[in-house]
Amino acid sequence: MVKNKNNKAIWNTRIKKDVSTLFQKVGNSINIDKKLFKEDIDGSIVHVEMLFRQKIISFKIKNKIIYGLNKIKKEIQINKFDYNKKYEDIHMNIEKRLFQIIGEEAGYMHTARSRNDQVITDFKMWVTSSTKEINKNLDNIIKTILKVSEKNIETIMPGFTHLKNAQAVSFAHYLMAYVEMFNRDKQRFSNNLESLSECPLGVAALTGTSFNIDRNFTSKKLGFKKPTNNSIDTVADRDFVLDFLYSVSVCSMHMSRIAEELIIWNSDGFNLINLSDKVVTGSSIMPQKKNPDLLEFLRGKTGSTYGNLFSMLTILKGLPISYFKDLQDDKEILFGSNETLNNCIAILNEVLKNLKPNKQKMLELANTGYITATDLADYLVQNHSMPFRKAYQTTSSIVNFAEKKKKKLNELSIEELKKIEPKLTIEVLKVFNLKNSINSKKSYGGTSFDNIKKMIMKYKKT
Ligand code: ARG
Repeated sequence: MVKNKNNKAIWNTRIKKDVSTLFQKVGNSINIDKKLFKEDIDGSIVHVEMLFRQKIISFKIKNKIIYGLNKIKKEIQINKFDYNKKYEDIHMNIEKRLFQIIGEEAGYMHTARSRNDQVITDFKMWVTSSTKEINKNLDNIIKTILKVSEKNIETIMPGFTHLKNAQAVSFAHYLMAYVEMFNRDKQRFSNNLESLSECPLGVAALTGTSFNIDRNFTSKKLGFKKPTNNSIDTVADRDFVLDFLYSVSVCSMHMSRIAEELIIWNSDGFNLINLSDKVVTGSSIMPQKKNPDLLEFLRGKTGSTYGNLFSMLTILKGLPISYFKDLQDDKEILFGSNETLNNCIAILNEVLKNLKPNKQKMLELANTGYITATDLADYLVQNHSMPFRKAYQTTSSIVNFAEKKKKKLNELSIEELKKIEPKLTIEVLKVFNLKNSINSKKSYGGTSFDNIKKMIMKYKKT
């Protein structure tokens, strides 16, 4: 590539000395914002097309600039672009290179805009496409969960509250809860698209411009709905960054809860699921170990995504509006959260795809802890016209009795049960059957096998 002869900053007429080498080193952002090269070039092409339509630049100059920009895009795509930290960021690197390729006419490109509107236009476009990308990745994980759920509708396990056995549920019902969480995440990310749909380009540094530009044209051509309303707010606004970071945080939090749950179920104490060898690692000293490192990795990463949200909130707190250099950190923070989230989604997808329930152990555990006690109380209300509180107390006495006798509820004889509640008949014994218990939960959203089947179908259709 052509050696850059004019390796001076664009403002070198006004500022006589090069910025200190230390600031060049720490203050540049090129290694981070070079991710925005495509959005930056597309934005510049549309900008000069608009300048030509509005008779601000000539046809010839417009074409020359577009030629140069396309050449630069190619150079970047084939790794032939020489990024220079001295020019701070992607915007200046591209502009400098344009001068080398087409000469002084490159100087027309920056008419009626500033890096302040340029950077958020690029950034909003980038965040829009990564938001859509995340939603595709969430779709993939939802598909995986639906597949595993379909195979486990009749897999019976204890549902836990406080990690104590509560009531029997289908394993698929737990899995389908994860679908709800990811579906809300998708909704949350989609909602953000609204605030990303206003185009900043043309507000220039902070006041707008004296040129007769057409912001509706650039806005539409770049895929936005409309131009932003207030030039000062536009260069100051990073709400869309916060929205993104918050959505990432909630989604990571969901994954972290799932990870924690799977770690517990995979522990030797519970032993309810088996993780594939693909997603566990060994120990350097204990030969027998298979540790759920990947799940721990994604649980841990939630810490850094929360941290990123708080970094950005803190940067914005107390910052006067319009543009300040403080804002430059927004990209490093958001790119980091975006990458971490996509890695975590891919990891969890891999874990769930290969996860095997230990059905025997699930059933055994579901048969402990008097898990059908609530079913018995419900039965007393439904069949013996008892108020629920009375039925609750009667059932508690039966549980206490069973505990004393070291028996499970389904091991009690009808005679024993009648001693505590004389109205009971042999018919009551069916409530201690786990399948019956699960299938009785027919209320909308409940764990009955039919409900789960219907819900899986509903999600498969969307
Ligand atoms: N690299 C800068 C950023 O990301 C671009 C905007 C620079 N504007 C300025 N007035 N220094 O924030």
